[in-house]
Amino acid sequence: MISRQKNFPMRTLFLVLGLLAIIALAGCAGSPTWFEPASSNAALITHLGTAIFLIAIGVFVIVEAMLVFSVVRFSRKREGEALQIEGNRKLEIAWTAAPAIVLAVVFALSLQTLQSVAYSPAPDPAGTPAGDAVHVRVVGHQWWWEFDYPELNITTANELHVPVNTVVNFDLESVDVIHSFWVPQLAGKTDVIPGHINHTWFKADQLGTFHGQCAEFCGEEHALMQFQVVVQSPDQFQTWVAQQQAPAAAMTGDAAKGEQLFLNGACIGCHTVNGTKAAGKVGPNLTHLASRKYFAGNVFENNAANLKKWLTDPPAMKPGTLMPNLHLAPTDIDALVAYLTSLK
Ligand code: CUA
Repeated sequence: MISRQKNFPMRTLFLVLGLLAIIALAGCAGSPTWFEPASSNAALITHLGTAIFLIAIGVFVIVEAMLVFSVVRFSRKREGEALQIEGNRKLEIAWTAAPAIVLAVVFALSLQTLQSVAYSPAPDPAGTPAGDAVHVRVVGHQWWWEFDYPELNITTANELHVPVNTVVNFDLESVDVIHSFWVPQLAGKTDVIPGHINHTWFKADQLGTFHGQCAEFCGEEHALMQFQVVVQSPDQFQTWVAQQQAPAAAMTGDAAKGEQLFLNGACIGCHTVNGTKAAGKVGPNLTHLASRKYFAGNVFENNAANLKKWLTDPPAMKPGTLMPNLHLAPTDIDALVAYLTSLK
């Protein structure tokens, strides 16, 4: 009787947990997934994940089958005392060897994949010259991503552009805590560590926009440390490069008023706008802010309404952000928004 009373809340608990899991997983529907790889590295990782998943299913089926068989076959109704198997050498060797073999297979598969994805391919001496590979320096910040293209003289944030079918080499570093660079459809996770430069690479084989996410818990806004990778044709990429290399646009009207406020206010302590005296390094480079689709860690759609809300009280939109509430006057905010939306 007692055990029955105890069982009931447990069953309810499992039911509630199961329902919650279904609701949570339903949120994943339609999201980009590592089941749809868009680079050679991601494809190898997907194959490995699938192989390990199938092995796990095999183990599950065998173990559960043995369990169900034993419960049915050896239930108390039929037998008296349980069979004693202590010291059965054959059985002990079998249940030690079987998992060891399974783990050895998983280890070998993982090592093989690791070797294939770890090192960027050397430039092909006959084909692609070394200069064709794109080099990006990734800097993790709480909670946004800086992307520098040292050879191209471009610094941007949260929106990474790369040409299709081209090797992209990344140097990863952090200014604060450990982050992790992860684009499920393009590249596996690589830690982004302060005081140490890590490397990763990928070669995208599909055009499109792919979601990236910090994959190492790095503080309260870890979940909102996102980015996107825009894979473009070589022509589109060159157009983007030329546009990013241009100095900031000349301003008129309200935007010019906003520019003066920006250049003579606190903004330049943290932000850079190429071609002006603003050279702060703490926050994102804003030279071509208006060309990006989202801002603040690729979280808020980049439009006048959201920028206005952001300038009014950044920590209210993203608690923990380094950008403080500057208590700007509403008219100044309007001018600053006119300026920021003109930084095409
Ligand atoms: Cu950065 Cu999590």
